[in-house]
Amino acid sequence: MTEYIIRGGKPLYGEIEISGAKNAAVAIIPATLLVDGVCRIENIPQISDVTLFLNILKTMGADVRTVNKHTMDIDCRGISKGEGPGDMMRSIRASYYLIGAMLGKFGSACGAMPGGCDFGVRPIDQHIKGFTAMGATVDVRDGMIIANTPNGRLKGTNVYLDVVSVGATMNIMLAAVKAEGRTVIENAAKEPHIVDLANFLNSMGADIKGAGTSVIKINGVEHMNGGFYSIIPDQIEAGTYLAAVAGTGGEVLVKNVIPKHLECITAKLEEMGVEIEEQGDAVLVRRTGPLKCTNVKTMPYPGFPTDMQPQITTLLAIAQGTSMVTEDVWDDRFRYVSQLNRMGANIRVDGKVAVIQGVEELRAAPVKACDLRAGAAMVIAGLCANGNTRIEDIRYIERGYENIVEKLRGVGADIISVSSDPENADKQLEVFA
Ligand code: EPU
Repeated sequence: MTEYIIRGGKPLYGEIEISGAKNAAVAIIPATLLVDGVCRIENIPQISDVTLFLNILKTMGADVRTVNKHTMDIDCRGISKGEGPGDMMRSIRASYYLIGAMLGKFGSACGAMPGGCDFGVRPIDQHIKGFTAMGATVDVRDGMIIANTPNGRLKGTNVYLDVVSVGATMNIMLAAVKAEGRTVIENAAKEPHIVDLANFLNSMGADIKGAGTSVIKINGVEHMNGGFYSIIPDQIEAGTYLAAVAGTGGEVLVKNVIPKHLECITAKLEEMGVEIEEQGDAVLVRRTGPLKCTNVKTMPYPGFPTDMQPQITTLLAIAQGTSMVTEDVWDDRFRYVSQLNRMGANIRVDGKVAVIQGVEELRAAPVKACDLRAGAAMVIAGLCANGNTRIEDIRYIERGYENIVEKLRGVGADIISVSSDPENADKQLEVFA
């Protein structure tokens, strides 16, 4: 087992390069199943969720070749039936995209219900509503999901989503690209990774219009050929580093980003007194004065992203005054707050709302990463705190952040990844001396 140790209190200076978007990659990788040819995909982030998904495809019979660190050739022509490996699917939330892709390709799908970070009930009723509307029978039993179509092909139709769901929008898109006729998704989610999935599918021969708006129209095609695609930069990874610099102070150029995707995050940081400067495909973040309190409410894109909620709450914990954060997407995404309070934060949670009374400083303490973004919040807290913070359960963080330790060390942070064996950890701590 490894953990992170962070010696906090140092401002950050330099440059950080952002990797490809996790939530685009975990949809585009299963989408290659729909393609009758080789997909060369660039800018794939090296994170454990991606490795796991590539292993799922390999287990099913795909040929996956590494071209270089971030580029893969994926050829799924060797996969002959719609059956996913149950145990592997259970360990990753995004494995539900395999169901949509298998159903779209083979007209049938069998796999495990998805796992992933736990922040309350995570239903997939809207995914199932879409598949059913397109003519599939879907049976969920004993942790398995089995879907079938009467004649081996889904039929295009209108699907109105009752909740704005990223997963349901992308899954219905995957199922629909090869369906007979036209599918229209109404009340669709608009996140950048939805547009990225549509662009990937279109570049392979699909016919999708309207991604990025609330109405997406998909005309089914017979074939999709191979091709080349480069995944967009990760909006949340970039936001996390912007928040880290906002917390520690200093000046960092965050490179390889699409600044437009970051506006929902940078607007809030600016309200808090952080300076943000757009420089082409990079954003400069600088904080010299104190952080100011503000209120935040999470919403689907282009609202403030729920995946940045723990990170901004951590900043507000050391901002001047009282702030309120309302979590409107997930029903249990404040579990990490008890960890921040151990570090001296003063946060009270009542249902969907956290009331944050800013404190002068955070103090180092042993804490846990409760989930991926909560783990990122602990890293930010550790960078801002006085003393050495030890973070356990970092496997959650490594599901979604490529080389976080190296990237932060590159801008001057004192952070190391150590074995959780205490003797060894103490020895490794000497690097801070
Ligand atoms: N919902 C339903 N029924 C459904 C689907 C969703 O009621 O069938 C509800 C959920 O309970 C939630 C809301 O709709 O309250 C939004 O859920 P959504 O489907 O949009 O979430 P998701 O697709 O399961 C993706 C990201 C999450 C991110 C959310 C919201 C992936 C693999 N995951 O999840 O990312 O929080 O969208 O933006 O893309 C993360 O990266 O840390 C992460 C958790």
